[in-house]
Amino acid sequence: MASHAPSGFDAPSSRFDAQRERLSAYFDGTARKAWIELTSDVKVSGIRATVRAGRDAMRELLLDWLPHDLRRTRLLDAGCGTGALSVLAARRGAEVVAVDVAAGLVAIAQERQPSFLGHGRIDWRVGDMLDPAHGQFVHVVAMDSLIHYRPEDIVATVTAFAARCERSMVFTFAPATPMLRAMHAAGKLFPRSDRAPAIVPVAEPQLVSKLHAALPEWRVARRERVGSGFYISHALELVRR
Ligand SMILES: C[S@@+](CC[C@H](N)C(=O)[O-])C[C@H]1O[C@@H](n2cnc3c(N)ncnc32)[C@H](O)[C@@H]1O
Repeated sequence: MASHAPSGFDAPSSRFDAQRERLSAYFDGTARKAWIELTSDVKVSGIRATVRAGRDAMRELLLDWLPHDLRRTRLLDAGCGTGALSVLAARRGAEVVAVDVAAGLVAIAQERQPSFLGHGRIDWRVGDMLDPAHGQFVHVVAMDSLIHYRPEDIVATVTAFAARCERSMVFTFAPATPMLRAMHAAGKLFPRSDRAPAIVPVAEPQLVSKLHAALPEWRVARRERVGSGFYISHALELVRR
């Protein structure tokens, strides 16, 4: 497993750096066990089961937006967590670079990797998704890895991906629904005992117009929301014009 120090390149902002460090501590610390369980098939409580079902649906949706045949195709799984999406993409032939800042989750992902991936392969890395050392890609996927960043940092991150991406970028954000906004305002997306970094609700029209302004050579091709119990996430696909 390669490890890339996050500090060897320019992050979009010092706020991005600070949030990445908080996320690394959170996913490698208090949230680690819950996250490993959520991404496995062990039995979980009713609420978590709805989240798992929503996440399964979102993963399927994002994978459906990629070509079925991914042979000889370099794909970045940005914020790969425990690696489910990377494995499914590799099974379709992709050459996946799977990167996450939480070393403990990448270790689980490696343990879970099936021994046979057909034509595909996965290069697991610990580090920042924005590190240019990861190279150039045909597709970039970021499933729920940007939901803790502010809209300006999401736009800056996607803009940085665009410089390294040939065909499509698919990512999700937490849509600013009345319920998510209310939970955010009441601190409910930020359980104190866990010191969890808050999920940031994002208004889709503003995000899309900022993306179009920052990336004139790209357009939003598809968009879809997945809601399941306590899980709500909104996917966008950007393709070159
Ligand atoms: C909500 S989890 C989603 C994980 C995975 N994509 C999935 O859907 O199962 C968000 C992940 O993004 C990772 N992450 C957040 N910011 C990152 C960054 N700047 N570079 C690499 N990983 C990052 C976190 O460590 C965490 O594992």
